[in-house]
Amino acid sequence: MKATVIAHRDYVISQIDERLYGSFIEHLGRAVYTGIYEPDHDTADENGMRKDVIDLVKELKVPVVRYPGGNFVSAYNWEDGIGPKEDRPTRLDLAWHTSDSNQVGIHEFSDWCDSVGTEMMLAVNLGSRGLDEARNFLEYVNHPGGSKWSDMRIANGRAEPFNTKLWCLGNEMDGPWQIGHKTADEYGRLAHETAKAMRAFDNSLELIVCGSSNAHMPTYPEWEATVLEHTYNEVDYISLHMYFENRAGDTANYLAQNVELDNYIATVSGVIDYVKAKKRSKKQIYISFDEWNVWYHSKEQDKALLAGNHGWPHAPALLEDIYNFEDVLQVGLILNTFIRRSDVVRIACIAQLVNVIAPIMTAPNGAAWRQTIFYPYYFASVFGRGTALNLAVNSPTYDAPVAEKVPFIDVSGVHDAEGKTVTFFAVNRHLTDSIETEFSLAGFEKAEILDHQVMTHADLRAVNTAENPDNVAPRKGSGASIKGDVVSVTLPPLSYQVIRVKV
Ligand code: AHR
Repeated sequence: MKATVIAHRDYVISQIDERLYGSFIEHLGRAVYTGIYEPDHDTADENGMRKDVIDLVKELKVPVVRYPGGNFVSAYNWEDGIGPKEDRPTRLDLAWHTSDSNQVGIHEFSDWCDSVGTEMMLAVNLGSRGLDEARNFLEYVNHPGGSKWSDMRIANGRAEPFNTKLWCLGNEMDGPWQIGHKTADEYGRLAHETAKAMRAFDNSLELIVCGSSNAHMPTYPEWEATVLEHTYNEVDYISLHMYFENRAGDTANYLAQNVELDNYIATVSGVIDYVKAKKRSKKQIYISFDEWNVWYHSKEQDKALLAGNHGWPHAPALLEDIYNFEDVLQVGLILNTFIRRSDVVRIACIAQLVNVIAPIMTAPNGAAWRQTIFYPYYFASVFGRGTALNLAVNSPTYDAPVAEKVPFIDVSGVHDAEGKTVTFFAVNRHLTDSIETEFSLAGFEKAEILDHQVMTHADLRAVNTAENPDNVAPRKGSGASIKGDVVSVTLPPLSYQVIRVKV
């Protein structure tokens, strides 16, 4: 089987916003406690943060981290996480049927962000609370001083404001599971008024309004239209979420699901254009895809805890999906889709970062290691910055229940003009056959292969564990060759590849 890919220097989709490679940490399970924070751990720094985790996060060059939720934020009192630690209350978390000691709050999280070199993206509670708490939180976080809330921040040891630019107006407010769930009109009005108040404080904030929790919600896509009609002039992004699963064990169908993702983005992009036209607006709203990942491996084991059968434990194992090799391919496909739609998806956050449906796992008092999906996220984040190229791809296709005419070869390409590289991220979804693929580079002065990394595995269900952390890992490819401006690579069945070319 053969496929061709043509990249032209001038045929571009968009400059990629580096926040396309963002992530997310929620007060959920062991994401915070025994994830990023474990004061008794051998590697803990002076703030009680695990240095082994900090080092792994740094590898990923995560540009932005959404915090503190997620469903958690919809009943969160941000004031519980400030002030002397011994005075902070333990609260029941209604979203995940656990308790939270509040030993980590905005100060500790911000210090951790500084340690890993990332920016905060904060969510306000529009579930159990509203406009007033949101404006107070904003004043606490961003006002230099001389007011009630900013002076409280200073008294709590932080003289300089945190200066957070990105703010989420609640979380998944379309979901009946959400504490304080609202109709689209109720939420749209509240989000509008909250955004207006936040803008009255600082007009340069970037505000994100909630779109649908997934494309199967009964209110989708009417929700987007209604919410944007209320908020279009006050916000900058609409948030989307999507999780992928292969409960049926159907690999071909599982690996076709990014077609659904593509349709979801296209539909919401259309709704944005519709509301923009209706409002005769010149302003452009973009998508913040601030929760995405594979999530299904842990669902069965979490049922009892979520039903309340274990009381209100602090930081139990929850949503601890152990990812396999098949998920490497899925995460590669999702990231390819975001790169190809970087014209409209400006921000995206893998959900989440540590322990909870995460690329990084830890054992309490023990090791930290890379899950299988760490690698496609790493490659995209590190080498996927620059301009997304509009590739002409010619590949044989297959039909799956979820989509027809799915190309076996799924590819994205990024031109880094400063670094003088073109990077291709390619997935071969064919279950049994290699595909000889030619990547032609047009409009570039020269072409020379810089690097070729391959991920394949004999066992789709292979995982990484503390004992065997490198079972699924990339290796240097040897099969790429170049002739003139054409790179030829044989892509093995069910493989993920990164081909980097100096141009
Ligand atoms: O990321 C896990 C959960 O998934 C989040 O809390 C929620 O927003 C979504 O339903």
